[in-house]
Amino acid sequence: MPKLWSGLASGAIDEAAEDFNRSIRVDARMVREDIAGSVAHAKMLAAQSIISPQDAEAIVACLTGILADLDAGALTVDPEAEDIHTFVEQTLTERVGEPGKRLHTARSRNDQVALDTRMYLRGRVETTGGLLKKLILTLCDRAEEAKAMVMPGYTHLQRAQPVTMGHHLMAYAMMALRDLGRLTDASRRMNVSPIGCCALAGTTYDTDRQMEAALLGFDSVAENSLDGVSDRDFCVELAAALSLVMTHLSRLSEELILWSSWEFKFVRLSDAYSTGSSIMPQKKNPDMAELTRGKTGRVYGDLMALLTVLKGLPLAYNKDMQEDKELIFDAFDTVDACLTVCAPMVGTMTFIPENMRKAAAAGFINATDLADWLVGRGMPFRTAYKLTGELVAACTQKGVTLEELPLEAYRAKSDLFDESLYEAINIDNCLLRRTSYGGPAPESVERQIEYVRRQIG
Ligand code: ARG
Repeated sequence: MPKLWSGLASGAIDEAAEDFNRSIRVDARMVREDIAGSVAHAKMLAAQSIISPQDAEAIVACLTGILADLDAGALTVDPEAEDIHTFVEQTLTERVGEPGKRLHTARSRNDQVALDTRMYLRGRVETTGGLLKKLILTLCDRAEEAKAMVMPGYTHLQRAQPVTMGHHLMAYAMMALRDLGRLTDASRRMNVSPIGCCALAGTTYDTDRQMEAALLGFDSVAENSLDGVSDRDFCVELAAALSLVMTHLSRLSEELILWSSWEFKFVRLSDAYSTGSSIMPQKKNPDMAELTRGKTGRVYGDLMALLTVLKGLPLAYNKDMQEDKELIFDAFDTVDACLTVCAPMVGTMTFIPENMRKAAAAGFINATDLADWLVGRGMPFRTAYKLTGELVAACTQKGVTLEELPLEAYRAKSDLFDESLYEAINIDNCLLRRTSYGGPAPESVERQIEYVRRQIG
């Protein structure tokens, strides 16, 4: 396929250099956006009497035919083309002749690629947002089921205070909700049309940038043509939002890996989302969660690479920018793949509440409640804290829990103690009383579920 740029260059380009320069392998996926942009451009050129209505009609009809042929498989993107803009324009010109050569009036590949990328990523945000919503709704459903399944809450991975599996899962729903918000925010800022900035310095033609932007669903147009063709902030913002999605998925994955281990056994992953070992017949491995945890590094890498590509670039367009698409596309592909398996993995796992309860019973996670009980009897918290610590030490020595320690042992420490302490340190009671806003009591978790469902409803 001939170049679009054989103006000054007369010698032939080296074959390896030509391939090095090519971006078709990456940008072929923006063919729909490139065609849609070209259709709008032709319409605008005709509306402004820059080309004739007949030429515009011929261009639009031909581009529509190209799209139909691509969809039907009658036409495939030429892998030898330099990029998708070259492919579309040359296929158009081959088919329609003279009018095709008029399409690139008042346009450059510099504003064209910026336009296509923004439009393409707009669609990707929709898809990823949909996948995030599915994960959020799954977390809500599972949390509802597990809102009374008491388990230890951890700090430093040490058993700390009682929570429920439902409360724990809702923490992830909150993270995913923020992720959704970040993607939506970035998409809103991205929805500014660069078309009409041309190569860098606008044009002498009487174009209507607003019309073209409106035809393509943009909220506004770039106010400065140099910025319009050089801005890749949106790629960085999206990659950062996607990196946080992965941060959250990696934390959830890590917990699923722990929880499904023999050491915890709080959950059993469905066979559909785990694998076996080729040598150890007893093994069931949480590969999907591990891969998700591992792929987090890839997405962070995409973000870091994007920032580094842009660092120190002079205005306006530089070929360095061609690297942007491979990175941001990879970030979206990776996140979508992870979300696609993570949501049903959470949706299909089996809870093992007996084991959660066993773990909750063993870790003195009601020690704070015992201290609080003493505070209720008038003891200053710091004194109660110290006394409870001594009681825990005594329990550890005897190999019993606080619930099993006889009343005499309590009374030997303080005569404030009476039978009612046992009711106060009962794990279920400890949980039911944690009704503070945002807390783990089932009614509070229900409120959280309702809140999240309302946010995305
Ligand atoms: N393939 C290029 C890219 O992805 C399109 C813009 C090329 N512009 C140019 N002046 N060579 O960035």
